[in-house]
Amino acid sequence: MTLQAIKWEDRKLSILDQLQLPLRTLYRAVTTVDEGWSVINKMQVRGAPAIAIVGCLSLAAEISQATFEDKTQVLDFITSKLDHLVTARPTAVNMANAAEDLKKYAKGLHNDSQISALDLVEKTIKWCEKLLADDVATNKKLSDLGATSVMDSATGVTKVRVLTHCNTGTLATAGYGTALGVIRSLHAAGNLEHVFCTETRPYNQGARLTAYELVFEGLPGTLLCDSAAAWLMQTKGIHAILVGADRVDSKGNTANKIGTFQLAVAAKHFSVPFYVCAPTTSIDISLDDGHKIPIEQRPSQEMTHVAGTQLAAPGINCWNPAFDVTPAELITGGIVTEHGVFKPQDLKSSLDAISNKSK
Ligand code: MRU
Repeated sequence: MTLQAIKWEDRKLSILDQLQLPLRTLYRAVTTVDEGWSVINKMQVRGAPAIAIVGCLSLAAEISQATFEDKTQVLDFITSKLDHLVTARPTAVNMANAAEDLKKYAKGLHNDSQISALDLVEKTIKWCEKLLADDVATNKKLSDLGATSVMDSATGVTKVRVLTHCNTGTLATAGYGTALGVIRSLHAAGNLEHVFCTETRPYNQGARLTAYELVFEGLPGTLLCDSAAAWLMQTKGIHAILVGADRVDSKGNTANKIGTFQLAVAAKHFSVPFYVCAPTTSIDISLDDGHKIPIEQRPSQEMTHVAGTQLAAPGINCWNPAFDVTPAELITGGIVTEHGVFKPQDLKSSLDAISNKSK
């Protein structure tokens, strides 16, 4: 059995409710964009690539059942629903990138006199289905490239000990994962000695989800408290740190789960290569200032309570940013994409060259 976060069968969407994991495996049907927005916002599905895929497929599910009078009505519907989906989780750029691309595509079809309202609906659904299919292929590619780069940097060893943060696996994507995908590829090649994963407070994506994936896949893994990470580097000799990304700017500054920045600072202290694993769908090439990335604030309750039980002192004020921005200069291993592993300063020029070549 393989783990599957997103199911799309006969134009019906369901998601594995990640707030129920690891104790219960419960799929929830998503039939409309409003439901898609809600499962993303509540973090029943999360992880930057999965957010975009579920958002787009919720649109596909809704338009496959709807009736439209004409093409303009279809286009207006698609445009307004995509604009709404972008607001569900603002830091991850994947949904915004997908919305921009899909709006452009739909507008082009709308202006084509050969295309009917039904064609526009059908082609939009196919576009969303391709997003799902492409993500797995992209992740596999970037994971193999990342694994090779990690082994190249870990001179003199055949097996590595790595550290990861948050959840970047099958549960955060259409399948395989990004940073956890690299770890999976290391394992498949016989190069993984051990993976350490942080709890990832406050919402425990590491303890609940990454630990679940490691056990599920039989990878040699150990969970640690976030506050134990520097001591782990000091005492266990970590070869690489691998994290995902919610938004990478054109200079390589990276927004990712809160706590990523402090891991990168500690990695620098211990000269541990620090890798950001990000499909190009997570790159915001139009932005060159990481300080401008919108940082989502989550409800205090996600900090003060664990599984419904209050742990923090009642009445205390809370500050709960969901993400931080790691400066590019701390990303010493590189940015792992499906097109290659790039130093942050080379990211834009390398991606521009690849895009020019494919024109
Ligand atoms: O708040 P979350 O759980 O959506 O945060 C997830 C992360 O920070 C991941 O590292 C990122 O989205 C990449 S997932 C491949």
